[in-house]
Amino acid sequence: MNKATAVSPANIAFIKYWGKKDSKLNIPFNDSLSMNLSECSTTSTVVFDESLKDDFVDINGKNIEGDKKQRVVDILDVVRKIARTRVKARVKSENNFPTAAGIASSASAFSALALAASWAAGLRLSNREISIVARLGSGSACRSVVDGFGYWKRGKDNRTSYAVPLALVDYWQLRDIVAVVSKESKKASSTEGHEAATTSPYFKTRLTMLPKRIKLMKGAFLARDFSTFGQLLEEEAVDLHVMAMTSKPPIFYWNEGTVQVMKSLRKWREEGLEAYYTMDAGANVHIMCLAKDEKEINKRLKKLSGVEFTIVNRPARGTRLV
Ligand code: PMV
Repeated sequence: MNKATAVSPANIAFIKYWGKKDSKLNIPFNDSLSMNLSECSTTSTVVFDESLKDDFVDINGKNIEGDKKQRVVDILDVVRKIARTRVKARVKSENNFPTAAGIASSASAFSALALAASWAAGLRLSNREISIVARLGSGSACRSVVDGFGYWKRGKDNRTSYAVPLALVDYWQLRDIVAVVSKESKKASSTEGHEAATTSPYFKTRLTMLPKRIKLMKGAFLARDFSTFGQLLEEEAVDLHVMAMTSKPPIFYWNEGTVQVMKSLRKWREEGLEAYYTMDAGANVHIMCLAKDEKEINKRLKKLSGVEFTIVNRPARGTRLV
């Protein structure tokens, strides 16, 4: 067996990872919490082939070179080191959603890669180990490995920083409707954002506030208290963007469509329809609602002038072999 294919979901963070304590190992400053997305996934196939002179990386049908390829090769190297092999590999990765548009494609990509590469190399790693390898590719990828809702314990070194499941897929029928307000690649990568994060004058304040917010968020989630959960969700999303906007250099991810969705949600709530927003490092908005309101909210979102299309996600299983 020198070939394996894995599929893995993207995830949306309720509590965000922003800023790295160790930028080589992707060790975060704080714990984070997320939901896997059923309709946003990456399928990755890895073949270790003795006849290859170099690694080959194909993403969405394009042969990749340079820094982007190196990030994939770095993970192959991690796997090769554990498996004690030098054999080169062919990697083929396919997303079913727009790349780099505020839907974390790196999370689904690196978690799928971690499982496919390790299995193809003959390793049989535990979920914890796969989560660690995925984290080395992209921090948020470690949360996609576990089923349903992931909790990333920041840890203090490579061995102790990984995700565990907070709750399984069926725990709470939440929906995450992604309102795509821009399909363009974002101008500042999350890597640049993480680097700039600590230069925001609010960064330290955020860190002192977070333990309480994480506790409240976990409590609201486990109690399925949607109103409290939603309020904390929005506070956290705005915090991330305030930090981005106040870092040096400042980064603005929002566009007119982003703000239109945020304002509309507030209005709909006043009318009795409950939904809350969050965003990652991008312009697109993730709207969280309960399953019973999914159709009505999706219908209203699609009517907004700034929204190009929507993607309705249920909680999903984590990384798995296919
Ligand atoms: O995993 P990265 O390096 O792409 O960082 C992800 C950062 C956010 O998506 C903005 C937040 C998060 O926790 O997913």
